[in-house]
Order: sequence, then structure tokens, then C-alpha cells
Amino acid sequence: MFRKIKYKVFFFTLGLLIITVCVSSYYSVREMNQHILKEVTKRAEVLGNNVAISGGHHLLAGDVIGLDNLVYKIKNSNDDVEYAAIIDMDNKIVAHSDLLKHGATLSSSAKKSMNGPSGTGSLRRTGSSRGSILEVTTPIVSMDKELGFAVIGINRSSLSTAQAKAHITALLVLVCLLLLGTCGSFFMSSYLTRPIMELTSGVKELERGELSAPLSVYSRDELGNLTRGFNEMMTMITSQRNQLTDYAHSLEESYIATVRVLAASIDARDEYTHGHSNRVSHLSSLIGREKGLSNKELEDLEVACLFHDIGKIKIPDSILRKEAGLSDNEIRIMNRHVEYGIEILSKAQSLHRFIPGVKHHHEWYNGDGYPDGLAGEQIPLFASIISIADAYDAMTTDRPYRKALSRTVALKRINQSSGTQFAPSLVSLFVRVIEKRALLSRSRHEDVLVT
Ligand SMILES: [Fe+2]
Repeated sequence: MFRKIKYKVFFFTLGLLIITVCVSSYYSVREMNQHILKEVTKRAEVLGNNVAISGGHHLLAGDVIGLDNLVYKIKNSNDDVEYAAIIDMDNKIVAHSDLLKHGATLSSSAKKSMNGPSGTGSLRRTGSSRGSILEVTTPIVSMDKELGFAVIGINRSSLSTAQAKAHITALLVLVCLLLLGTCGSFFMSSYLTRPIMELTSGVKELERGELSAPLSVYSRDELGNLTRGFNEMMTMITSQRNQLTDYAHSLEESYIATVRVLAASIDARDEYTHGHSNRVSHLSSLIGREKGLSNKELEDLEVACLFHDIGKIKIPDSILRKEAGLSDNEIRIMNRHVEYGIEILSKAQSLHRFIPGVKHHHEWYNGDGYPDGLAGEQIPLFASIISIADAYDAMTTDRPYRKALSRTVALKRINQSSGTQFAPSLVSLFVRVIEKRALLSRSRHEDVLVT
């Protein structure tokens, strides 16, 4: 998956988005928390100031009941106020919304923690059995004289509820942003990488020679210019490839024509083998077609047949055209035409594919042939086909020492050598195709006579 640029772009942009959204959400939530805390504190300070102003008069007047009423009213009229208290300068609680705490004295540490700048509220967080408390202490001052402190305890649960709501809102926004970002990243990566992916597949198709139409240009940016450049290059390559194909065809045709001339000139050295290579080529094509070879294979088989005895060009006339039987030494020299054929074909790389057919066309199915004594399926198919066609043509043409055999006799001898000299499966194909052609030829002849 990560080998595709589309997914790389997608996961990269998504990763950046997640990091950005998470960091910004973290700082947003922190700012919201601080804002909420600030607002709650401000409200507590306002309450503390109110208590301090009213409490100052009551303290000066020694009105304890008034102080009790004041703290009680503050506690009851504000749901989030956990307690309210008035403390004198001797750290003694003179009024408290919890009547049980009346008259108690604060410890020095508690007193110290509530001392803030004169005339302002100070903040402290305390833990209690009823939960975390946000405590605001405001000095009670009258005519520049400190009389005590007003203390307001705000239950932080209300603060936590507000913060929890803010967190949920932030989380929902985060999830929505991530979903939108994921979709956006996917579409953006698809949009950005589409031309690149089409270019990649275009290059592969061009390599295989399958690209026929220019690629679509989606934009006028660098990618669009790249696609336009690729299309121009493709047009040029296709044109040059077509030219090369034409040259190759023309070269192939010239080459085959040359081979035909060469084969004919070899056959012409001996009046008895005149046209032999062409006939072997024709007979081999019949076998190959019956066997179901492709057109390309049939073309190669035809050329291999034309080449099959090309090595005879190096055999002296005294042996090649000798009418009497050959001596053992002369047979050895004659058999070397296979070796000479390989030498000739080895000179050009493009002819190497014909070597197996030429080299082994005198191998026998049972391994008694030459040059390598191959047997059965070891013998290349082309060589096995040429072997049958070569033998049949030799039997059905005149020789200095005998007249040409009839088709029936020749086929009988081919059949007799099935499994020894020739491959049985190819012999049956060959016999079938020759008899079929004979029947066809006979019926045409009868038609001509009737008409
Ligand atoms: Fe031969």
C-alpha cells in the first residue's frame, strides 16, 4: 500500500492534520478552562467584595446577627457557593454559613494562605469531603483599616461541569475536523496523484507497446506540462516504432527472399535435389499447421526448412553429385553438412533460432541418428518435422540409383519407420494430411473430367 504515492500523500496530509488539530484542540481546551476559571473567580470576587462591603459595616457595629444573615443569604442565593464566612483579624470565624463553625479559630497556615494583596481577593483551592473548593478571600477594609476577611467557597463541581461541556464541544469539533480532514486528504491525494498514476501506467503501456491514445491533461501546472511532454514523447516513440517495424518487416522479407535464393542455389547444384528445400518447407508447413502451430512458428519452420541443408554448400561436388554409392569416409564428409550449417547460421544472431531445426534434422526417434544421438522428446520439434518431410521428398523424387517411389509406397516406408526414425505422433499427422490432400486432388481431377 505504501509503495503508492497516492497513499503516501494521503497518510502524510492526514498525519499533519491530526497533529495540527490535536495541538490546536489542546491549546483551545486549555484556554477555555482558564477562561471559565477566570469567569468563576471573577464572580466569586464580586460576591466576596459584596460581603466585604456589607460585612465591614456589621463588623464595626458588632452586629453578629447581621453578619450571620449576610453569609446565610449569600450561601442560599447562589447554588455554587459552598460556604461564606467572615473572619476577624484574630483569625476567629465571626460568621459562617455553617453555624457549627462559629467561633472557631483558623490555623496559622490557613490564615497565611488567605493573605493576598490588600484590597483584592486572593484565590486558593482546597479539597474537602464535599469535593474540590475554589476559595476566594477578600479583605474587609474600612477607612484604611483592615477589619477582617470575607471568604467565599465556590464548589468546583459547577466549574467542572462547565469545563466538561467545553471538552465535549471541543471533542465534537475535533471529530468533525478529523472526518472532514480524512475525506479532504483522500480526495486531495487522489486529485494530486491521478496524473502521476496515469503517467506511470502510461509508461508501462508504452513499454509494452499497448498505449494508443494520449493521456488526459487535467491542469496547466507542472503536472499538466509533464503529461503534455509525455504525450509528445509517446507520439514520437510510436512513430519511430512503426517505422522500425516497417523496416524490420522489409528486412525480414528481403532476408527470406535471400534465403530462398540461397537454398535454391544449393539445390541447383544437384539436378536430383532441385526444388528439394522448397518442397520440404511446404510439407513441413502442412505438418506444422495440422499440429496447430502459430503463424509465427510456421514462418520460422518454413525458414528453418530452407536452411536445413545449407551446410551442403561446403560439400564438394565430387561427393554431393556422386551417382554411385558413397564410401564410409564420404558418408562422414556428407554428414558434416549439419555441422557446416550450424557454422553458417552462427554468424548472425537473428539466425540462431533456426539452429536447433537444422542441427538435429538427421536425429532418429530411437537415438540412432546424428550428430548428437538425441532420442524421443529430446529432439526439437522443428527437427522432427523436417526429418519426415526431408525423407518423404527424397523418396518421392528420382535418384541416380532409382526412380521416385509412389506416394503410397513412400507413406508405407514412413509408417514402417515410425518409432524408430520418426516420431509416431508426427508420422500419423503427416500420413493423415498427405492422404487428405490426395483425396482432395483426386476429387478435383474427377470434377474436371466430368465437366
Ligand atoms: Fe540434411
